[in-house]
Amino acid sequence: MDLADSRFRLPADLARELASNFETPLYVLDEMTIRDRVQKYQKALHASYPRTELSFASKANSTLAVLAIVHSEGATIDVASEGELRAAVRAGIPASHCHMHGNNKKRHEIAFALEDGVSHIVIDHFTEIEAIAELIKGRVFSTKYLLRLAPGDDPKTHARISTGQSDTKFGFNIVDGSAEKAWLRCHELGIPVDGIHCHVGSQLLDEEAQRAGGEFLAEFAANMKTKHNLIAERIIVGGGLGTKYTDSDQPVSIEEYCRSIVASMKPILDQAQMEPIIGMEPGRSIVGEAGVTLYTVGVIKTVPIAEGKSRTYVAVDGGLSDNPRPAMYEAKYTVEKVGAGTAEMQTVTVSGKHCETDSLFVDVPLPVDLKEGDLLQVLTTGAYNSTMANNYNRYPRPATALVRASGAYDLVVRRDSWDEMFGKETVPGDL
Ligand SMILES: Cc1ncc(COP(=O)(O)O)c(C=O)c1O
Repeated sequence: MDLADSRFRLPADLARELASNFETPLYVLDEMTIRDRVQKYQKALHASYPRTELSFASKANSTLAVLAIVHSEGATIDVASEGELRAAVRAGIPASHCHMHGNNKKRHEIAFALEDGVSHIVIDHFTEIEAIAELIKGRVFSTKYLLRLAPGDDPKTHARISTGQSDTKFGFNIVDGSAEKAWLRCHELGIPVDGIHCHVGSQLLDEEAQRAGGEFLAEFAANMKTKHNLIAERIIVGGGLGTKYTDSDQPVSIEEYCRSIVASMKPILDQAQMEPIIGMEPGRSIVGEAGVTLYTVGVIKTVPIAEGKSRTYVAVDGGLSDNPRPAMYEAKYTVEKVGAGTAEMQTVTVSGKHCETDSLFVDVPLPVDLKEGDLLQVLTTGAYNSTMANNYNRYPRPATALVRASGAYDLVVRRDSWDEMFGKETVPGDL
């Protein structure tokens, strides 16, 4: 047994009860695991540096109950759209505990964030600087600003979730002087820049790329102080650790991750006599391992493939619409049968029920006596699953159940109803 494996798993009885009450596919989240991860980050950051802020990247899971849990543990909320800001506010979180990202914010989104009083807007490009200057002219808002910087660092993760390198749509490049120009322009226009931000990538299993990103930011902050006496009061180093999807993912500990990143920045900041707040905004590592998805097994089919071999497809009652990550990133997962089965395993491909190849989990081991009606639980589906769910093939998005600290459970998201599916559409009268 892997002792470092602290992923949430449902016991068989509870899995069956939840599936029978709320239908499958079903997302299930564990409150205790979410609280544990937030506390681990808070402790690790506090142990590494006196002034820190933990935010939760709500794009990973913006279920209102999740936002309420992380906020109750003292985390602020990172939002990347008006919708995510509205979610936080609906969860009872003051906008002043939220900061807003976005590489292409619309003016009305910026205005909405300002009127609501978000703590920070993270500015991504020169056009946005000019838009903000116009919006705040002659008015007083509590919101401050961070500049999103691209350190030019190349993280080793999937290309579609790498964001800190030079060739990116995000932020101001440090190396080509854009970052410095952006700060000076803000200063000239009276936009209160409180600090800087970067995010080098996601699903990082060690701290290497993030350390380099943190160093770039600290050096840039020190330079801006020396050259222009512009002071970064806040440096946010972006997202958190990767998670364990399969046994081959072995992320370093949250403690080591935080300690190492802060240690890479501190000497530079000390030398420049600066003590900004150091912020981090993990998403995946807070909620990912706290979630499982339950599916019911349907058709099981063995087909001939090349060289006289065969493949067994196990079809489940979900797929692309509740978990598009395998199709997007070739993401791998751990799939387990709920309840005892024979110890003899076969290698199968778990497919969804969509009109695409829709191979969800390729070459996974499952017991040979698996049959129609059995339940499967897929681990580490708490992050970027429900938030990426869609209605492809007109499937309702699944419900979410929350297993409470007491061991009881609550339904925190209902399954889409047919009225919700069709309620916003009209057929013009002449059709
Ligand atoms: C700006 C920003 N911050 C934080 C995150 C969260 O990253 P993770 O879920 O890997 O912790 C992301 C993810 O894409 C991001 O773009």
